[in-house]
Amino acid sequence: MFQDKKILLAVTGSIAAYKSILLVRLLVKAGADVKVVMTPAAAAFVSPLTLSTLSKNAVISELANNESWSNHVMLGRWADVMVVAPLSCNTLAKMAHGMCDNMLLATWLSATCPVVVAPAMDEDMWHHPATQGNLQKLEAFGNRIIPVDKGELASGLYGDGRMAEPEAIMQYLRDHIFAKKDLAGKKALVTAGPTYEPIDPVRFIGNHSSGKMGLAIAEELANRGAEVHLVLGPSAVKTTMPGIYIHKVQTAGQMYDTCMAEFPGADIAVMSAAVADYTPVETAPEKIKKTSGSLVIELTKTKDILKSLGQVKKSGQLLVGFALETANERQYALDKLAAKNADMIVLNSLNDEGAGFGYDTNKVTIFEKGGDETVYDRKPKQQVAKDIVDRIVNLLYV
Ligand code: CTP
Repeated sequence: MFQDKKILLAVTGSIAAYKSILLVRLLVKAGADVKVVMTPAAAAFVSPLTLSTLSKNAVISELANNESWSNHVMLGRWADVMVVAPLSCNTLAKMAHGMCDNMLLATWLSATCPVVVAPAMDEDMWHHPATQGNLQKLEAFGNRIIPVDKGELASGLYGDGRMAEPEAIMQYLRDHIFAKKDLAGKKALVTAGPTYEPIDPVRFIGNHSSGKMGLAIAEELANRGAEVHLVLGPSAVKTTMPGIYIHKVQTAGQMYDTCMAEFPGADIAVMSAAVADYTPVETAPEKIKKTSGSLVIELTKTKDILKSLGQVKKSGQLLVGFALETANERQYALDKLAAKNADMIVLNSLNDEGAGFGYDTNKVTIFEKGGDETVYDRKPKQQVAKDIVDRIVNLLYV
């Protein structure tokens, strides 16, 4: 996967720069062509000689050296990806403000390739609002951020801020930069999050869905090249991944309307939202005041989006639903597969520890129309999303 890939590794002044040595080694061993650019401060932590020997290319650190001028524009255009690892707090702040007082920054400003950054700093610096604000700016520029690890820090304290390990950076590049674009040209529709059904101007009927699973699926589909339309109920999740178009909705009715409008052009639809099954018959125009008696709110069924898409599904369109069950899981999942004319049902059982609403992990079983059933281990939701998309790709191209 890395064979002949052109990787520009940018090293900044951080104690984590010692890990860059191993990263260069792993990339070169995997067949990549690696060039290293570093800030003047980085040379205090790692020797340019070590990095040039391992990368088999001269390390670049000066904008101008005697009479020669380093062509930062060409360097940024040469690379298939620029990896800033470690990214120090200082360089992050300079990037966020578009500063250009060294060769690394000039190259970063000129880079036309994807940029991945692996921050490294002490915990208090990491959590400072200035740092978090700067990271958000980088994300808004389209840079991808590899999350920091928790562990022992240079200060001797324990906490967030360790740079991701070189193996983890390699895996990130595999998954996010060089992944096969096997869904290029495909359009996907994904629902995520809860829906809020208004009772009056200040109250609603909702549920605890976080939207994390649906977002992970949307990101994985986009990562594989699909154009993704994410119909998102009220949820705090965010993404800056290119290729994802977010349609924000509040109610089941709005989610239904958006899905029905988007589905005809879609190749894939994944209904992972926790849609309210019932909605108040009437929304009170003013806040309901309490009285001495009890209150009865009449509810009516919402439209089942998954089922409605199943009814209008054309050949070539692939429909995936979710089931969240507490009992008779397998039978209910199989019933849903048939009743909703879905091609796949992803079952998560509330009986499994670490699965379902609010968790960062999930444990699923996938049931397919053709009869295949696959039971997966408990995994982070990003990994679950990969498993689901793998099955989607498999069904799409059989
Ligand atoms: N779903 C939907 N529209 C609804 C309700 C659910 O699209 N109005 C979708 C969900 O996104 C999920 C699947 O249907 O993909 C869940 O199936 P469903 O039968 O609604 O499950 P439950 O809501 O758990 O209902 P039941 O009480 O029948 O188990």
